[in-house]
Amino acid sequence: MHLSTTAQKQILLGVTGGIAAYKAAELVRLLRAEGAAVRVVMTQAARAFVTPLTFEALSNEPVHLTLLDATEESAMGHISLARWANVILIAPATADFIARLRLGLADDLLATLCLATDAPIVLAPAMNRLMWENAATQENIRCLQDRGIRVFGPAAGEQACGEVGWGRMLEPVEICNQLEWIFQNGALAGLTVLISAGPTREPIDPVRYISNRSSGRMGYALAQAAQEAGAAVSLVSGPVSLPAPRVQEMVSVERAEEMYQAVVSRAIYHDIYIGAAAVADYTPATVAISKIKKQTGETMIHLIKTPDILSAVAALEDGPFTVGFAAETDRVEDYARQKLAAKCIDMIAANRVGQTRGGFESHENALQVYWNGGQRTLEMAPKTRLARQLIELIAERYHAKNPA
Ligand SMILES: Cc1cc2nc3c(=O)[nH]c(=O)nc-3n(C[C@H](O)[C@H](O)[C@H](O)COP(=O)(O)O)c2cc1C
Repeated sequence: MHLSTTAQKQILLGVTGGIAAYKAAELVRLLRAEGAAVRVVMTQAARAFVTPLTFEALSNEPVHLTLLDATEESAMGHISLARWANVILIAPATADFIARLRLGLADDLLATLCLATDAPIVLAPAMNRLMWENAATQENIRCLQDRGIRVFGPAAGEQACGEVGWGRMLEPVEICNQLEWIFQNGALAGLTVLISAGPTREPIDPVRYISNRSSGRMGYALAQAAQEAGAAVSLVSGPVSLPAPRVQEMVSVERAEEMYQAVVSRAIYHDIYIGAAAVADYTPATVAISKIKKQTGETMIHLIKTPDILSAVAALEDGPFTVGFAAETDRVEDYARQKLAAKCIDMIAANRVGQTRGGFESHENALQVYWNGGQRTLEMAPKTRLARQLIELIAERYHAKNPA
């Protein structure tokens, strides 16, 4: 029987004043179904959206509303609540609450609890897309992440205000899944993981380059999952339009040659290397100093091979456990197995690209993972979930190869 790691955990759920507050009711129901004890704290604004009675009924516990409650505070209620929690989960987290948390204000019960706890704090932001994209909110989020606060989501999609974009709260079931992962973490505790992600850009002249459709999402999701699994993560990234995840070291590169240097010089200091970048196989032999003018007839660009990062890392003496990716449009298993053998790597995660679902620019994907003597299928799932499954598998294979 699968026993959830959330079972028997004590979860303090903070509900703040956003439209998504109604979804927090479902979250309480799901967490209790997993076997967790849930106590709810609501901000004053949250009560304009949902009544405390709803949460009281669902959690089977009194709902905590005010800091200056004489009955509770005679026993220092806020401190004992902060101590009770194994985790403080704030869902939805408004832009306002995020700003107050960053400032370290203690002007209501929930903000005070966050200051007075040493339990992990998790935010599930929910707001209009412009509020989310606003520089102030983005800066607040980055600062909180730097302090170790975890942020689940937000997701993109249709919003209550009628707009479409990033800012929707993750669905309660997804929040539960991610929370379970927090309690599970440790699969890579004490290990160092190097990840390369995104595309490379091979310049033709000062304004043109050759690149590919990699979004970097898979590599970034892997960086976050590895970090959550307890690893110290270094991320070498090609140009992508994703927010930088909170990792130990972030290195931005453009060209395949730069990625090669950044990865190979670091690989020896890491236990695991995951090559999730879509590195250009060829680069222009020369880069024109000034813009190449349009010509009347055809033109040619002379391409030369770029260095093979994966093989170079796999060939290192005392090198890391090496995981490669293969994106193929056909004969996925054949090519993946050939690559596994030819490059002498420990594991390969293959995905079929060019399909209607999954692949490069998509938020979801499916993987077929091979290693010497085994294989596993990871079914179509959002890249964040898929990344956690792959990290679990990598941890399993790493520990099988390097028994304690
Ligand atoms: C109808 C309505 C919906 C709102 N939805 C959101 C929201 O989804 N996210 C958000 O950050 N703020 C939202 N706000 C603004 C917050 O309610 C406001 O900033 C409030 O001060 C938040 O207080 P709290 O952070 O203490 O809960 C909304 C306001 C109204 C009137």
